[in-house]
Amino acid sequence: MESLVRIFSGSNSQYLAERIAKSYGTELGKVEVRRFSDGEMCPVILESIRGDYVFLVNSTISPTDNLFELLLLIDSAKRASAEYITAVIPYFGYGRQDRKDRPRVPIAGKLIANVLTAAGANRVMTMDLHAPQIQGFFDIPVDHLESSTVFFPYLKSLSLPDITFAAPDVGGVNRARQFALHFNKEMVICDKYRKRPNEVSAMTVIGDVTGRNVIIVDDIIDTANTLSNAAQLLIDKGAKSVRAFITHPVLSGKAYENIENSKLAEVVVCDTIPLKKQSPKIKVLSVAELFATAIRNMYEHKSITSLFVN
Ligand code: R5P
Repeated sequence: MESLVRIFSGSNSQYLAERIAKSYGTELGKVEVRRFSDGEMCPVILESIRGDYVFLVNSTISPTDNLFELLLLIDSAKRASAEYITAVIPYFGYGRQDRKDRPRVPIAGKLIANVLTAAGANRVMTMDLHAPQIQGFFDIPVDHLESSTVFFPYLKSLSLPDITFAAPDVGGVNRARQFALHFNKEMVICDKYRKRPNEVSAMTVIGDVTGRNVIIVDDIIDTANTLSNAAQLLIDKGAKSVRAFITHPVLSGKAYENIENSKLAEVVVCDTIPLKKQSPKIKVLSVAELFATAIRNMYEHKSITSLFVN
């Protein structure tokens, strides 16, 4: 008997998983999340998956219930005799905690990699990890998709002249460089210093942005403090306009207010995390088709790298 591709979703990524399943040409499988009166979760896969290739979609954004729901789904699939289980994590939460840069801090990304594997995941499919080397936290294969596959064509469609790319901090240099190389343009770096998480203390620009349409490239937009400060600084340094292409719209705290009151002309994000509300400045591009194709290629033992635009 041939193993079938079966796609299921946790509560957080329902909207995206439905699109992925549709783009793949199948129905999203049925899951019911039962809860005890104290809130304890029990997700039930309502269809037989014996011998199948199971893809469980859920972004592990805060609250931790999202991660835990994914772990319980993996465990359910394992106990239901799925042949091969792939955790599809469009946004890998806790990835920002990827190193021990102070005494007595956890490396949460590594812990979560261990826990996903212990739960029974055979493989992980994700997008734009905070740092690509997080793949090394896993001892199972990781398919690491890139948002540039949807960002590049959209940016081209804007036909913007005089583009310069910007990394909003030193950690984002490689991401901005990938854009600069693809479009054959210059890049600048905003040098950001933080005293505490989510709090930007000082920023300077390395490079010239006078008269340029600047595109900031980043992986996460959380409080939007980094982004709104960078946009203000770039405008102060003579940029004509500032846009941002940022994969994961975490958007917590005063993020929407910060974006709306900022100098940003547009913030382009992916649907790896659902928006809490619409904003006139935020444009969402879907990565559903990319994930669907990656699922097909993985199942058919074809290359995933061939999906990237270089
Ligand atoms: C940090 O290293 C990330 O790449 C983002 O720049 C950061 O998470 C954005 O955070 P916020 O929007 O809270 O400034």
